[in-house]
Amino acid sequence: MTRQRLVVANWKQNTLTAAATSWIRAVEAGLDNVPLPAGLSVAAAPSYVALAACRAALAGRLTLMAQNVAAQDSGAFTGEVGPGMLIDVGIHAAIVGHSERRSLFHEDDDLVGRKVASALSAGLSVVLCVGEPLAAREAETHEAFVLGQLEAALAGIDVSAADARLVIAYEPVWAIGTGRTAQPEQANEMHGAIRTFLSNRFGAAGRDRSILYGGSVKPLNAAQLIAQPEIDGFLVGGASLLAEPFLAIVRAVASDGTVSP
Ligand code: 13P
Repeated sequence: MTRQRLVVANWKQNTLTAAATSWIRAVEAGLDNVPLPAGLSVAAAPSYVALAACRAALAGRLTLMAQNVAAQDSGAFTGEVGPGMLIDVGIHAAIVGHSERRSLFHEDDDLVGRKVASALSAGLSVVLCVGEPLAAREAETHEAFVLGQLEAALAGIDVSAADARLVIAYEPVWAIGTGRTAQPEQANEMHGAIRTFLSNRFGAAGRDRSILYGGSVKPLNAAQLIAQPEIDGFLVGGASLLAEPFLAIVRAVASDGTVSP
C-alpha cells in the first residue's frame, strides 16, 4: 500500500447550491487540463444540503465528502446525519473532528473517536483532523497535544481498518483562517511525528497513511508545503471557495513542488 496524494476543498458553512454546482463544473473542466499523476485525488466537501446536487453535477474527476458525520447511524438524534444516510445519497467519505467542530460545537476526543469508529465500520473513508491551539505551540507541547488527539480518536480502531480509507489532516488551530501558515518545516516535523505514531500503532499500514496539511493553504504557499517529504496533500478552506485558486493548489500538488501558471 503506497501513500496517496489528496487535495480536499472544505467549504465549511459556505456556498449555496447554484454556486456549488458551478464550482464542480469549473473544477472538473479545469482538471481536464491538469495531468493528474496516479495516486492523486481531488475532493470537495460541500454542506450536507448541497451534497446531492453536487453529486448530480459530477463528471467523475472529483469525489465528494461530508464535512461531518454522526457517531450513530440512526435514531432520535435531531439534526444529525449518520453514515448510512451519506451512503444512501452516494457519499462515501467524511471529515471528522475538524477543529471548528471541536471548539465551537464541543466535540471532545471521546465523541471524535466514536465518529471515526462508526464511520469506518459503515464503510466510509474518514479524514480525521487533529491540530494544536496556539497556547500548546507556544508552550512547546504541540506534539504531545496532537499525538494525544490521535491516540483518543484511534483508540477503538484495529489495524484492519487502518487502510486507505483512513486519512489524517494536521491543521494547527492557529493557522486556520488566519493567513498564518505553519512553516513548511514545522508542518513536516509534525507530519513525521504523526507518521511515527501511526506506524507504531498499525505497522506498515499506519506508516503509509496519507497525512494532509491544512491551515491557510494558498496558491502561493502550496508548492513549498507539498515539497516537504511528509506532506501528502491539503485540506483547504478559504482558498477552496473559488475554482481558480483551488485549481492552482491542485496544480502545485500535481507538479510536486512547482506551481504551474
Ligand atoms: P483555511 O484554509 O481557511 O485556513 O481553513 C483550513 C481548514 O480549516 C480546512 O479544513
